[in-house]
Amino acid sequence: MKIGIYSGSFDPITKGHEDIIRRAAKMTDKLVVAVLNNVNKKYLFSLEERSSMVIESLKDMDNVEVKSFQGLLTEFMEENGIEFIIRGLRAVSDYEYELTMAFANSDISCGKAETIFMPASKQYMYLSSTVVREIANYNGRLSDYLNEHVEMKIRDKIKFQGSR
Ligand code: PNS
Repeated sequence: MKIGIYSGSFDPITKGHEDIIRRAAKMTDKLVVAVLNNVNKKYLFSLEERSSMVIESLKDMDNVEVKSFQGLLTEFMEENGIEFIIRGLRAVSDYEYELTMAFANSDISCGKAETIFMPASKQYMYLSSTVVREIANYNGRLSDYLNEHVEMKIRDKIKFQGSR
C-alpha cells in the first residue's frame, strides 16, 4: 500500500492546501494529512481547532486520514509506515527552502523518506496561511482562499481577539 504524507501547520487550512491534498490523494492508496504542533511556534488557532478545520474540509475523502504530530516528520513517518512526502510548490521562492527540507528529510531517514513536489494550481500560486491571516485582520474578502466554515472560524477568532 502506498501511503503518502502531507504535513503543515494549517493555521488555517486554505483552498491551496486542499487543492494539493485532493490531487495528491488520487495518486496514493492513503494520504495522511499531518497537522504539526510545534511547541515553539505561536499559532492563531490551537492544534484542536486547526485539526478540526482540516477534518471538516476533507470529510468527503475516503483515503485521507488526518493526524497530528510533534517532532520530526521522518520519525512520525517511520512509526506510521509512510514512505513519501508530498509538498506543494508555489512561486519559485518556495523551491530553495523545500529542496533543503527534502534533502534533510532524506538524510535523517537514511534515504527512506522520498519527497514528491506538486506545482500549486495557478489560482493558488501566491496563497498562504500568512496572507490569509493578514487579510482577515483587516476584514478583507477571503472567499477565494478559504472554505466557508474556515472563513467563519477565522472571522470569529479575529473578533474574539479584538474584544480582549
Ligand atoms: O505549514 P508549514 O509551517 O510550512 O509546515 C512545515 C512542516 C510541517 C512541513 C515542517 O516544518 C515540518 O515537517 N516540521 C517538522 C520538523 C521536521 O521534521 N523538520 C524537517 C527536518 S529539518
